This record gives sequence, structure tokens and C-alpha cells, in this order.
Amino acid sequence: MPEDVTTQAVDDRVVDPAETPEEQSFDIGLRPQSLAEYIGQEKIKGNLEIFMAAAKKRGEPIEHVLLYGPPGLGKTTLAHIIAKEMGVNIRVTSGPAIERSGDLAAILTNLEAGDILFIDEIHRLNKVIEEVLYPAMEDYALDIVIGKGPSARTLRLNLPKFTIIGATTKIGALSSPLRDRFGNTYHLDFYAADDIHQIIQRSAKILKTELNDEASQEIAKRARRTPRVANRLLKRVRDYAQVKKDGTIDQDIVHEALGLLEVDRLGLDAVDRRLLQAIIEKFGGGPVGLNTLAAVISEEVETIEDVYEPFLMQLGFLARTPRGRVATDLAYEHLGKKPAAGRQNGLGV
Ligand code: ADE
Repeated sequence: MPEDVTTQAVDDRVVDPAETPEEQSFDIGLRPQSLAEYIGQEKIKGNLEIFMAAAKKRGEPIEHVLLYGPPGLGKTTLAHIIAKEMGVNIRVTSGPAIERSGDLAAILTNLEAGDILFIDEIHRLNKVIEEVLYPAMEDYALDIVIGKGPSARTLRLNLPKFTIIGATTKIGALSSPLRDRFGNTYHLDFYAADDIHQIIQRSAKILKTELNDEASQEIAKRARRTPRVANRLLKRVRDYAQVKKDGTIDQDIVHEALGLLEVDRLGLDAVDRRLLQAIIEKFGGGPVGLNTLAAVISEEVETIEDVYEPFLMQLGFLARTPRGRVATDLAYEHLGKKPAAGRQNGLGV
């Protein structure tokens, strides 16, 4: 069996907010194409509208933009919308894809005035490349070193005025010189339940799927306040309805379909529950160190930090403390467990 087949099976979580390769191509039709179509994140939309209108009025490209927040909330979608609304081209790359400074130079010298370069996972850019990026962002110039040793010379190459849109899930991992070079930083937060409800209804229309109000509320409750998860759950429920019933989705079908996928009424799946159960059953509710926890549940430290924890913390089920991870009383309650006698809430308060 090829090695990546097993990896695929382990990674295949229906509530994982990371984008699958299939979604990159199949979900294009679901993505909003303009700010007017984009549901939620009202403050960011309001700011972006003014910021883009002002740049248009001055006839200038927009300043560099940094978007940060958990995966699946629409950072890439927003970057495409900005390009569309500004009427410019967008080139898409990512931090780990730019391996050598020559790669970056090739991308930058191919840009036209006003173009947008979208760098996903910008916190994973290597330091040497970051240094090349500084003068490019600040002075629209590339400093190329020719030759080696004492005879080496620096040649400055002028670039067209362009805009970088950087996206990251880890703002803290970005060096401060890089962060400071963005004129605008926007934090995307988890969506309000009603926004997710509206996104599901919009997607259902595009997918020509019939679903009633209760059914879409029920999917929304389990979608981790994340549009990408909401759309994925909708598609899985649609599959179930088409195979088992006549294709129309009601609340019972949502219960059955998501029950089969082990997504509970708050959107936790088997791995989330395993993580909380491990803290509660093996470590008395915590605190337990992240590395120990990762080893016990056989998951990567990074995956726990980036994928599981943000939502569990959002629900108030998990806390990060200086001494380690702690399951809160709410987590005990959700899993139907009783905290041991004398246990405070694990946070020392
Ligand atoms: N699909 C995914 N995210 C969306 C959003 N924010 N608004 C509308 N449709 C979406």
C-alpha cells in the first residue's frame, strides 16, 4: 500500500477546518465572489470597503494586508474578493512553497502594477526569504547580490507597485519586522451562529439542495462556527439524504447523517472527545503537558494546537495554563462525567 494512503485515512476528519485538495477545486462555486455576497465578519468588510474605495480614488494599489485567524474562516476567499473588487490579478503561493530567494524573485518580477500576491501560511516563510521581502514590500525593490566574496555587488531591481496579502493562523509566529510591514491587519474570528446558518442556506441554494430551516439550524450548531466545516457537513448530509431518502433534508436526516459521522450536537467529533477524555480519565482533568497529551492520543503536537484546541477553547471546554492543558467543568458536563470530589475547576479559581 502506498504510504500516503494510511496518512489520508487518519487525516480524514469531517470537522477538520483545513482545506482538502478536493475542496480547492470543487468548492469554488460555493465561495462568495464579492463583499456583498460575503456573509459575516462585518467589521472587516466595513473596513475593507473604505480602504479599497480610498485606494481606488487615489488611483493607487492597496497597502499590504495581513489576515489572521483559525483555518477555514475565509482568509483565501477574502484575498480573492479584494483582487476582484480592485480589478487586479492575484497570484497565489504559500510560505513553505517559496524555498529559495530565486523563487520569490521570479514571482515578484512577473507581477504587474497593482497585482496582488497572496502568501498563505506566511509564518512559514524562511528567514532568508523574509529579508528579500522587506525591501520588496517597503520600496518595491529587489536587492540582488552578484558574485561572491570581496567583489560581490548588490544590484537593485525596481518592481512594479504591488500588494502582498499574507494569511496566517499563527500571528505570534510572525517576526515583528515582517508584521510591521503590513499597513492593515485583520483578525478573522469564529462566525456567529446566525451567519453560519445563512451560509448553509446560501450554499444549499447553489447546490440545488432542499433543506428546511430547522435542518440548516441543526447543521449550523455542529459546524464549529466555521464556514468550511458548515459546507462540508452540508455536502455529507446531502449525500446521506440522496442515498437513504428522497434528497430533501430535514432535521431527522441531519441527526442520522451526522450521528453516523460521529459529529455530536456541539460539533465535536471522535478525536475531540478522545482528547478531552484523555485529560479527564488519565490526568484527573489536567493540567497535562501538550507533548504528553499528544503522545497519549497519538496526534501531532501541531495538529492539536492548530486544529483541535482553538475550537475547544472557544467552547470553554479546554484551557491552556502555564502548567499544561486543563479540561474545564463544561467539558466534564458535555461528556457526562462527574468531576472528582474536591476538584476545583482545574484552573485554580
Ligand atoms: N462560503 C464560505 N464562506 C462564506 C461566507 N463568509 N459568506 C458566504 N458564503 C461563504
